[in-house]
Amino acid sequence: MLLWYFMPERTHKSSIAGSPVLIGKGVFSALKARLRKQGPAPVFILVDSNTLEACLPRLVAEVPALAGAEIIEVNPGEQSKSIRVCENLWAALAELGAGRNSLFISLGGGVITDLGGFVASCYMRGIPSIHIPTSLLGMADAALGGKTGVDLDHVKNLVGTFSHPEMTLIYPGFLKSLPPDHLSSGLGEVLKHALIGSPGLWKLLREAGDGLNWEVILKESLAVKKAIVDADPREKGPRKLLNFGHTIGHALESLSLESETHPMLHGHAVIAGMVCEAWISRKKKLLAKQDFEEVFGILNKFRTSWNFNKFDEIRLFELMKLDKKNNNAGLNFTLLTGIGKGKINQYCEPGIVKEALKFYRELPLPH
Ligand code: GLY
Repeated sequence: MLLWYFMPERTHKSSIAGSPVLIGKGVFSALKARLRKQGPAPVFILVDSNTLEACLPRLVAEVPALAGAEIIEVNPGEQSKSIRVCENLWAALAELGAGRNSLFISLGGGVITDLGGFVASCYMRGIPSIHIPTSLLGMADAALGGKTGVDLDHVKNLVGTFSHPEMTLIYPGFLKSLPPDHLSSGLGEVLKHALIGSPGLWKLLREAGDGLNWEVILKESLAVKKAIVDADPREKGPRKLLNFGHTIGHALESLSLESETHPMLHGHAVIAGMVCEAWISRKKKLLAKQDFEEVFGILNKFRTSWNFNKFDEIRLFELMKLDKKNNNAGLNFTLLTGIGKGKINQYCEPGIVKEALKFYRELPLPH
């Protein structure tokens, strides 16, 4: 493993639903090869002000052919995932002469790849796109699996498409530019992949000290997501496994987006959601006591504080009811049956959900 870690140009090659995913220091060779076939049609790079400064210079240094690309910048943060921003982007593409053969590269975190993937999938009914995630959340989850979309009225991802990029290039070097809270947020999705599909990844995370080997972690995390999405690309059934922690997590995130100037980061909301949903799994006797204690012990280390004075349970339930997994039978959860094993379509009474929220709210404040 160490040998692999130190081989500088080694690139791990995989795919999700047929769309190539490359991880490692050598990923830009694939982009150079792709650009050699591009011809005269323009290339666009979507960035936010953070990735414009922290990642674009590195990308252009690695891939000099991108020096002539049109750069389109949006504000960082979830607010950019809106239809209004999409309209501006579609108008900019039209004005800059984008056509069916143009190439649209999204360079950024989950907001940029969700937004860029959506814009590219709708413009002229779809133009080629490439994702280059720069955050841990993007590398572990958002940029993988073909989900694109924007929020509507603070409801996350209410409007979107399933559309896979031509390729996804994961360059772990970009993680160096990430603030610590964004790194811990991204770990939320990695922990989720471990809990629903990989006892090996869980062991790796449980036993890791300060120095995490991102190439190895991202490769293991990708293997979980790949197995699930390949079996069910359009979320008819098993892909709902990826929603562990998200029924409550998304609602908490939406509530904090409505009420906070500094809202919870997505992965932090998912960690809170996973604590509550692991508690429900135990309460419903799906998860053994010893497993719950182990899961809680690790998730608790990554828990972040949030202002629960603004906790509005009625609104939280309204938001949970908007979850796309629900049907007439009530609130639909993905729960845990063990470490590395989940179970979809677990309908829960509001009473048990309220108890789980109370458990979370009454935990001592994290450090
Ligand atoms: N982020 C969950 C999924 O890709 O299905």
